[in-house]
Amino acid sequence: MLKDQINNLKNEAIGQILEVKDIRELKEIRAKFLGRSGKINDLTREIPKLPEGERKEIGRLLNEAKKTIEEIIEETEKKLVKTQKTGEFFDLTLPGIKPPEGHLHLITQTITEITNIFSRLGFRMARYPEVEWDYYAFGGLNFPENHPARDEWETFFIADLYHSKYGKGILTPHTSSGQLREMEKYKPPIRMLNIAKCYRRQSDISHSPMFYQFEGLVVDENINITHLKGTLDFFFKNFFGEEREARIRPYHFQFTEPSFEVDVSCSECKGSGVLESGEICRVCKKGWLEIGGAGMVHPTVLKNGGIDPEKYTGFAFGWGIERVLMMKYGLGDIRLLFEGDLRFLNQF
Ligand code: DAH
Repeated sequence: MLKDQINNLKNEAIGQILEVKDIRELKEIRAKFLGRSGKINDLTREIPKLPEGERKEIGRLLNEAKKTIEEIIEETEKKLVKTQKTGEFFDLTLPGIKPPEGHLHLITQTITEITNIFSRLGFRMARYPEVEWDYYAFGGLNFPENHPARDEWETFFIADLYHSKYGKGILTPHTSSGQLREMEKYKPPIRMLNIAKCYRRQSDISHSPMFYQFEGLVVDENINITHLKGTLDFFFKNFFGEEREARIRPYHFQFTEPSFEVDVSCSECKGSGVLESGEICRVCKKGWLEIGGAGMVHPTVLKNGGIDPEKYTGFAFGWGIERVLMMKYGLGDIRLLFEGDLRFLNQF
């Protein structure tokens, strides 16, 4: 008798659940059958009145019925939520949910900024191969064959890539490789800004195996060091701030003569090396921060590029995008730029 009642109860519940139209109705059914004073509990209260021998069996059947009903309710609830039949109040006037908006990476932003500054001086934007021949990166830039100076660039050589005229295949270690390519392609006046990825076997807080450089090359009649100095000053003032200045120091590169290291005046101590408080400035070295190399294009390089060094002269410079960017924003670790951590990237 009780057995039939349990079975009927179960069927009744299932039938009603299949008919529900929204979550509210479903909640009512749950209360009606499974709630504290619901139908299942009503029957459970009958158990003590049964003869000893039957109690266990009825208990088991009741539990089973309860479980089945619970399961069907749960499934139905999931379906209703999916099809939005929740029946709950939906405020159409609420503003929409904005998906997070991305933005250009700090390196891309900096590349654009640098390009804009130099384009105001008439520089043409160029981009030359990352997979290069030894000739463009070294040989043609006046590095004698097997000269140990190649080691200074910690170059990645590509196995089995060899050109009978241009030598070994490499990943370009600097954008200076674009100088000869530009000269082969265009005749003076040349004003090139070559921005590209470069590769070297190096990795620490200020070096990454892949990084960016920007390379300037100017070739024309009567180009001299004052044009180089003026261009550097223009860039520093526009990129770092009006009060910044360039300084050039003698140095050596194979492809320039004379060659220089370029420094920018320190923003903290204004190039003096001493703070207003009288303390020694700890940001820079005696008032200046090192930026990178520059020089007057070596006559042999002009010749290799098909340009008459008797008629034309030129200057060049090549610096790291990450380096100038880190100096501008005061970043201490280059790796932050390549990790893709949004907590960092979203600050710019
Ligand atoms: N290519 C050099 C480097 O990566 C930097 C450099 C020095 C570029 C002198 C130049 C230059 O154009 O004139 O270390």
